[in-house]
Amino acid sequence: MRITNGSSFFIAASTLALTAHAEAAQPVQLWVRAAGVYGKKEQDPAKQSPQTVDLESLPQKQEQRTDVQYGSSAYYRGVALSDIWAKYTPPKGTDLALLHFHNGVVIPLPFRDAATMKRVAPFVALSRSTTAEGPYRTELPPVNKSVEGYADVRQVAFSGNKIVVADGWHPEMTEAALANFSPWRLAGSLTGIEFVEGTAYYRQFVPSADVRPGFEVFRQNCQFCHGVNKVGAHFGWDYATPLPLHTYRSTEQKLYMHIAYRVEYKATWQQMPALKHVSQAEAGLLWQWMRAVSSAPMTRYTPTR
Ligand code: HEC
Repeated sequence: MRITNGSSFFIAASTLALTAHAEAAQPVQLWVRAAGVYGKKEQDPAKQSPQTVDLESLPQKQEQRTDVQYGSSAYYRGVALSDIWAKYTPPKGTDLALLHFHNGVVIPLPFRDAATMKRVAPFVALSRSTTAEGPYRTELPPVNKSVEGYADVRQVAFSGNKIVVADGWHPEMTEAALANFSPWRLAGSLTGIEFVEGTAYYRQFVPSADVRPGFEVFRQNCQFCHGVNKVGAHFGWDYATPLPLHTYRSTEQKLYMHIAYRVEYKATWQQMPALKHVSQAEAGLLWQWMRAVSSAPMTRYTPTR
């Protein structure tokens, strides 16, 4: 469907939300990333030790929480994120939990780092109420731009669960980046938790040492929404396929203009925030990295254990 104006955008979004309401809580899949080459031309390696967890079967908690997406405090019933893998025991060596959301957002969480887990304190809500006594509703309202009052957030709808975090902080982002956007604001419903070794996971995106600086800009700013060769997030367009985006934004300067500014005539469909903190020099590094990473196969994922 081609969306041509603001009002049809909201009609489309509310239809989506209605469909989502009918669904029961979806199970969450846990797995360990298997060694191998991921991405185009190759079949991705099969998931290692996959396990499906029904969130309703876990001990339910009730908590009053501030939520960064709704921007207010409410009462939630659900499970602590870490309780989802309590019985799974992720293998030694894994240090990053990639949280996969149904809308393509991927948020890496250093789940063994006590300070990060304490600060983020992620909770997966199955129902919500504005009062402690209830009623608790499993319909989790979509995050609406106009309600949110945050110009750069698109409508996020939920299907069965929603992650609740109190502030938008993320350990891999700079303060300047966090001032412009938070990946937690974009998260849809949690569908999977993939355990990886962080160093080996990120090495996949580095075809050669000379473009590592550009990759670092991607890691801090873009990885939550974008992937390469179908590796990583897919909320925004893939950098390599079907169209190598460095050929679309065909110079460093054109890429910079896209990153730093929202193009208003596309406002009805533009869902990418303006990332004004990204400098021209950083956009140049990004462009060079995008060119290199989309013209080579992904580096093999080689965990140490
Ligand atoms: C919050 C999620 C999000 C983040 C963060 C994000 N993008 Fe995007 N991006 C999108 C979405 C969604 C689209 C699809 C088109 C649109 O809605 O604007 C997109 C489109 C694009 C495009 C193709 C469209 C065009 O007009 O050129 C490029 C190139 C791009 N992004 C680069 C980047 C780079 C580089 C970064 C990091 C500096 C980044 N994006 C960060 C969500 C994001």
